[in-house]
Amino acid sequence: MKLHVFETYRELSLRAVSIVAGQVLRKPDSVLGLATGATPVGLYEGLAELCRRALISFAQIRTFNLDEYVGLSKHDPQSYAHFMQEHLFRHTDIDPDNVHLLDGTTRDARNECERYEAAIEQAGGIDLQVLGMGRNGHIGFNEPGSPFGGRTRKVRLSEDTVARNSAWAGTSVPRESLSMGLRTIMNAREIVLLVSGKDKAPALADALGGPVVPDVPASILQLHPAVSVFADRASASLVGSGERALSARR
Ligand code: GLP
Repeated sequence: MKLHVFETYRELSLRAVSIVAGQVLRKPDSVLGLATGATPVGLYEGLAELCRRALISFAQIRTFNLDEYVGLSKHDPQSYAHFMQEHLFRHTDIDPDNVHLLDGTTRDARNECERYEAAIEQAGGIDLQVLGMGRNGHIGFNEPGSPFGGRTRKVRLSEDTVARNSAWAGTSVPRESLSMGLRTIMNAREIVLLVSGKDKAPALADALGGPVVPDVPASILQLHPAVSVFADRASASLVGSGERALSARR
C-alpha cells in the first residue's frame, strides 16, 4: 500500500479526482467500483464538475456500488442508490443501464448477491475500486470479523456503524445491508482508499501498520498489489506511532 498524506480534505479529494478522471480518460469503458459515505463526496463533486465541462465522459463507464441497506428502495432518500444519483450519476452522461446497484428490497438476498457477482464478472471485473473506511476499519459493509474470502452477501451491521451512519443520515438506518465481500473488493485491479478525519486515525494505523486480521477488515488491503491510500493529516496522525486501538473499538 502506498500512503499519500494531504493537509486538507480538499487536497485529498482533488487528487482522488485526478486518479479517477485519469482512469476514465485512459479507458473510457472502465468498470468503476464506487463507495458512499461522506468521504467520497468531494471526489464526486470534482468528477461531476469535469463532466459538466465535458472534459471527461461517463457515456461508456460502468459502475458497481459496494453496498446497499436492506429494505430501502432506490427512491428512499437514505438509500445508497439515491446518494449516488444525487452526488454523481445525475451530473454525468452515464447510461443508466451501466449503473449497477444491489437491490435492498429483494426478497431473495442470496440470489441478488449471486446476480451481482455474475454481473461484475461479465463486465470483466472492476478496474478501479474507490473505498472509504469506517472508524472500526470496515470497508464496504464488511464489519470486523468478516471472512477474507467473502463474496457479496447479506451482512449485519455493528452497533457502532448503525449509530454513526444514523447520526450522519439524521435518521435511523437499517441494521442489515447487502455488501460486496472482501474477496470481491480484493479482485479489483486497482484500489484507492480515501480516509479523512481524526476519528479514523486508530483504524487507519491498524489497517496500514498492524497485522492482517479479520478484526481490521481494511488490513486485508496490505495483501493487494495496487492500493493507494489518500489520507488527510488528521486521519494519518497515528500511522507509524505504534499505537493500536483494536481493543478500544470492540
Ligand atoms: C459506510 C459505507 C462504507 C463507507 C463508510 C465510511 O458504512 N458502507 O462504504 O466507507 O461508511 O463512511 P464515511 O465516509 O461517511 O466516514
